[in-house]
Amino acid sequence: MKILRSIFSVQKYIKQVRGKNKTIGFVPTMGALHQGHLKLVKEARRENAIVIVSIFVNPVQFGPSEDFKKYPRQIKQDSLLLDDEKVDVVFYPTVEMVYPRGYLTYVNVESVSEGLCGAYRPGHFKGVATVVAKLLNIIMPDAIYLGQKDGQQVAVLKRMVNDLNFPVKVKVVKTVREKDGLAMSSRNRYLNDEERQQAPVLWQALRSAQDMIRSGEYNSGKVVTAIMTHITEKSSAKVQYVCIVDKNTLEPLKECRKDAMIAVAVYFGSTRLIDNIII
Ligand code: PAF
Repeated sequence: MKILRSIFSVQKYIKQVRGKNKTIGFVPTMGALHQGHLKLVKEARRENAIVIVSIFVNPVQFGPSEDFKKYPRQIKQDSLLLDDEKVDVVFYPTVEMVYPRGYLTYVNVESVSEGLCGAYRPGHFKGVATVVAKLLNIIMPDAIYLGQKDGQQVAVLKRMVNDLNFPVKVKVVKTVREKDGLAMSSRNRYLNDEERQQAPVLWQALRSAQDMIRSGEYNSGKVVTAIMTHITEKSSAKVQYVCIVDKNTLEPLKECRKDAMIAVAVYFGSTRLIDNIII
């Protein structure tokens, strides 16, 4: 496995493998890898001749009061995990390389970036779309692999790929969960014991909502109230939002119908967790 730090070296590598007509699968990450990331890598490995993983903690997608500095960085451990998955290349650029002095160009996907997490994290999806657009331009993969856990990120990036005609397939991979249902996330490590014990309530509340809908309750208002009540039974949970939206446009839905996404963001102490379910 090669670890390449410069854009030039990645482009040189891509040029060589492209000449041999090999397909490239790409997994963008910010490192601190867990089984959720590794599932994306395994999918990419299964479907492509070459697998490239980027590790880049993207400053542009963090707000001024967010955890950019504190975000876990563990390149050695991550490299070992990726080597085990037979990844071909890890692209691990510096901030200066991605955003050199004088950098001025950003990608803003309107509307889908604005609700849900976007309402509480202004500029976040502009940062995500910008860095992913840059990575796609550098790597030019055949397919990009994204996790369903970040449901809004999936909608934003699918829209961007479509709107800007990136010649890449977007593959969305099911959320990987701990045994108790908690969605895997690099931020789970910030939870203290009590918060960790209570955090699976997110998935429990989403599953109960799904049962409620299956048994005929389609009214979004009632489903949202049931989820809120369920989650706030836990002493350390503070709900930021519970929304029922169309999974592609992210427009709010009055009725829970096919392709509805129920998305939640909840603080456990100072740790903000997100999860979702597609109906
Ligand atoms: O999901 C993430 O880890 C990041 O938002 C991504 C897609 C790697 C862009 O920085």
